Amino acid sequence: MIRSLIIGTGSHVPPRVLKNQDLEKMVDTSDEWIIARTGIKERRIADGETTNDIAAKAAKNALKAAGVSPKEIDLIVAGTVTPDMLFPSTACFVQSHIGASRGIAAFDVSAACSGFLYALDAADKYIRSGASKKALVIGVDLFSKIVDWKDRNTCVLFGDGAGAVVLSAEKGKRGILSTHIHADGHYWKTLYTPLSLCSSPLHDKTPERSYMKMQGNELFKVAVRTMGEACQEALDHNGLRAEDISLLIPHQANMRIIKATAERLGLPEEKVYINLDRYGNTSAGSIPLALDEAVKKDMIKKGDIILFVAFGGGLTWASAIVRW
Ligand code: UT7
Repeated sequence: MIRSLIIGTGSHVPPRVLKNQDLEKMVDTSDEWIIARTGIKERRIADGETTNDIAAKAAKNALKAAGVSPKEIDLIVAGTVTPDMLFPSTACFVQSHIGASRGIAAFDVSAACSGFLYALDAADKYIRSGASKKALVIGVDLFSKIVDWKDRNTCVLFGDGAGAVVLSAEKGKRGILSTHIHADGHYWKTLYTPLSLCSSPLHDKTPERSYMKMQGNELFKVAVRTMGEACQEALDHNGLRAEDISLLIPHQANMRIIKATAERLGLPEEKVYINLDRYGNTSAGSIPLALDEAVKKDMIKKGDIILFVAFGGGLTWASAIVRW
């Protein structure tokens, strides 16, 4: 059976750090409130680097770790909701930035914070069908571009970053065991960003700057429920129990959501990867960034079962289980 094996991981975050204390000077908030309600201490903010730059750096790092030349990649899928342009896609820009071959497939998926797992799901299906042999999957978001930095309800939560993995079609028991993706558009109003464009030959309107909008409380409840259900679905599908999980790598949105998900599974703290305190919520970047850190820290061994779970705007939610 052909499976997608993760043969390399990479990430990139902008160097500029924005601490909770910096936010205290911008909005009516406090370090204590942010840490108590979210677990976040600082986040990275792009200062000159674009979504394409950050995605390409993460991609290059993943290719280097995999020992794969950009010319060997036949598919690039990027999860992002903060592209530099409506089109071309971020995946096309990455193709050109890293020097991948001309004529390969490259496209973006829009699933907000679930974007990386949606992209992984798509790439895995190309690999298992035989349509791709080596795929590059990226999760990247620069929410600093769409956050209202005067809104304390949202600006304390997000940061910029990207992660990437190289998938290789391999025979055997290792690799991606399952992916599950879900959506419920009825909840769209809990998290969205309107488009600032309104060009028309019929009326003359100046577009207003539009920011991300969020109903934090409502989202919190749905997140706790869907993350728990998504984990259980992934375990049941593979005939696994929570004890079989070596490491849970959840979307890094809020410490309380992560803890509730782990508690529901009965997973001890040491089996849950958390870097939210240093990066905040990097949306589609969050899971591959956390994975890359866990790999670099030697926290993952060959044969380990890794569970990924995310939720985000759409609403969307998703899971993946990998035998490393
Ligand atoms: O990837 C998906 C992205 N989004 C999320 O994951 C968000 C999910 N939701 C959350 O993480 C939480 O709902 C928040 C962290 C956004 C908010 O935490 P909460 O415990 O649900 O707080 P709350 O919204 O109920 O607000 C409690 C109080 C309010 O004041 P009053 O009405 O009780 O006087 C807020 O105005 O905290 C106030 N507040 C703040 N105070 C200081 C809201 N934001 C801040 C802030 N600093 N930054």
